[in-house]
Order: sequence, then structure tokens, then C-alpha cells
Amino acid sequence: MSIRNLDDLLAEGVSGRRVLVRADLNVPLDKQTGAITDDGRIRAVLPTLTALTGAGARVVVLSHLGRPKGSPDPQFSLRPVAARLGELLDAQVRFAEDTVGDSARSAVDALADGEVALLENLRFNKGETSKDDAERGAFADQLAALGEAYVDDAFGAVHRKHASVFDVPARLPHVAGRLVLREVEVLAKLAGEPARPYVVVLGGSKVSDKLAVIEALLPKVDRLLIGGGMCFTFLKAQGHEVGTSLLEKEMVETCRNLLERSEGKIMLPVDVVVADAFAPDAAHDTVRADAIPSHRLGLDIGPETVAGFAAALSQAKTIFWNGPMGVFEMPAFANGTRGVAEAITSADAFSVVGGGDSAAAVRALGLDETSFGHISTGGGASLEYLEGKTLPGIAALED
Ligand code: 3PG
Ligand code: MG
Repeated sequence: MSIRNLDDLLAEGVSGRRVLVRADLNVPLDKQTGAITDDGRIRAVLPTLTALTGAGARVVVLSHLGRPKGSPDPQFSLRPVAARLGELLDAQVRFAEDTVGDSARSAVDALADGEVALLENLRFNKGETSKDDAERGAFADQLAALGEAYVDDAFGAVHRKHASVFDVPARLPHVAGRLVLREVEVLAKLAGEPARPYVVVLGGSKVSDKLAVIEALLPKVDRLLIGGGMCFTFLKAQGHEVGTSLLEKEMVETCRNLLERSEGKIMLPVDVVVADAFAPDAAHDTVRADAIPSHRLGLDIGPETVAGFAAALSQAKTIFWNGPMGVFEMPAFANGTRGVAEAITSADAFSVVGGGDSAAAVRALGLDETSFGHISTGGGASLEYLEGKTLPGIAALED
């Protein structure tokens, strides 16, 4: 695989050149106030941006935010992100109110060497996510016309065959940014010959989202620890009743099959925290995983499970973690996620945290980010990489 990276572009000289940087600035926003609740993805792209501005490039940042439906939708505007990016860069960031229209062109034209512009949400244009090659291509033509070179630093979006990820690099000299390079190096290590024992912790709400990665990882890992909402479908497959917990009925048979084939590698919760309702102040108790009352729902893994998972993690030499163990946004149901995260940081292992949610959990729980080996900015992207899929955004960078 030969992918040129930012150093190659810098070596050519970028002073005065308009450089498009695809970033993943899809940050979580507070539902009430619209404020950015976790700016990790903005921080993650700073090394690439400052390397370019420092070398005198005119930097045009492209990103999506949320999932608007191909037309402008104010709740998904990148304007607040432009403000935060400006604070972090300690420099003015010109914000364009459209992506390829008059506002974008004048923002780009106004750039002096070393300055940064951020264009409005790419997904306000139908062409960005279109399945039709011609429609995507037409939008990519307009984007490409704004720059002279393309840097992909949007690791969180490399699994999307979108115009800004897949089609623009076909139209301009292209390189991987610092973040994409680091993410791929780390994941290649996990996919290659990880130091053993290799322990993977998976959480999150749906088995169906994780099925492909479970299938791909089972032969590679020494242990697979399963928590989060998806554990209840596995518990059901073990023959337990799960009350009103999250359950994907159509996946029970698949989970039973996985358990049979897993050679005992899969560890499931032995106790869970159950509540009367999905609410921060709901009455709750810890019960055995085989004794969940019919009217209650599980919102976290229990302390005995945390201890068991921690024991497995303490042996590990390589750890990959994706997905919270419970509803960590509610303090009453955050202990499982916190306990597992702490066990990961105490292990003498190379640890990788995959994903928007798990990365946000690390920061929301106030854990020390530097005590993990790597915190990925891509949830879906890191899982698809580990599944062994071809990622359109990475393939587009190969020459
Ligand atoms: C993400 O948050 O997963 C990435 O930004 C990609 O967004 P998407 O899942 O809406 O394509
Ligand atoms: Mg996603």
C-alpha cells in the first residue's frame, strides 16, 4: 500500500497554495443549547492544520455534521465549530455559509497565506452522499475547483463513499493527514500481529451493528468481553429472561450460534444493574444476569462483571475497546463503563479506544486520555477497518 502523507506534500512546498482538508468535525452537540459537548474531533485535526498554516498554505476545511438530508438545516450548521476551531487555533477562521456557492468562493478567495476557512456542512448538498456516481462526481468537481491539493484527515468518515472522501481525491493531488496516518498505523498493528493476550471489549446498543466485527475478531482474539445494550440479546441466547431490556429478537439465534462457535472466548455479564425506567433517577438494583425481573430493564453491567472483565484485561498485552458498557451519560449507570475504562488504563497493554462514543465516554468520565495507547476518532471506521473491509477514503488515497 503506498499512500503519500502530509510530509510529502509539505516537502513539495505549499506556500500560497489552496489546500482542501477533509476533516471529521462531526462533534456531539447539546440537544437543548446546541453547544459542543466534546471537541475531541476538532483537537484531533489541529496538528495537520497547523503544519499547513505554518508552511503558508491557504487552508480550506471541509466537514459534515450530523445527518442532514441533502439541504441546508440550521441545527446542523458548522458555524459553532468554526468558532471553536478559531479558539483552538488562536486564529481567525473564515466561515462560509455554503459549500460550493458564492460564500465559499469568496471565503477561499479572501484567504491569505497561512489562513483557514471552514465551509458549511457538506451534507447540505445532495451530491455529497449520493449513491449515483455522476451526482457525486458533479459535486466533487465543484469542491475540487476550490483547491489545488487535497488532504484527508477525516478518519471518522473514511468508511463512507462520499464525494468529499472518495471523489475529490480522484481529482486533486492527495495525501493522508497526520490523524489518518496515525489511525491507520495503529489499526494495522491490531489487524496484524497483536501482542497476546489480545482482549477486545465491545459494548453499545445493537448486536446487528457489531455482528460483522465480532465474526471477524473471534478467530483473532483471546477474549471477547461483551457489555452494553447488546449483551441482553446474548443473555437471551444463553436462555435467560431479560425483562424490558434492549433486545434484538431476530439476532438471538445468531448470538446463540456465535456463543457455540466462540470456544469459550466470549465473556458475558454475570450481574447487571436493572432499573424501573430509562431515566437518571429511576429506582435501580444489581441482580444476577439470570434473574432480571420481567418489568425492569438493564442499564449497566454489575460490579461482579466489572471485576471479571478487569481480571481478563489485567492479563492482556493488547486491548481494543469499542462501545460503552452502560448508559454512562447517567451517573447511576456509569460504573460499568468507568470500571472497564480504569481496568484498561491499569493494564500493562497497548490499548486502543475505538469510536466517537467510547472516546467521548473517556473524556466525559474525566479519565486521563494519555493513559490509553490510542483513542480513535472513528467508531464505524475503526470497526470496518478491523473487519478487513476496504475503506473508500483510504483506497482513494492509494496510488
Ligand atoms: C461518525 O460520527 O460516525 C462519523 O462522523 C461519520 O458519520 P456518519 O456515521 O453519519 O457517516
Ligand atoms: Mg457513525
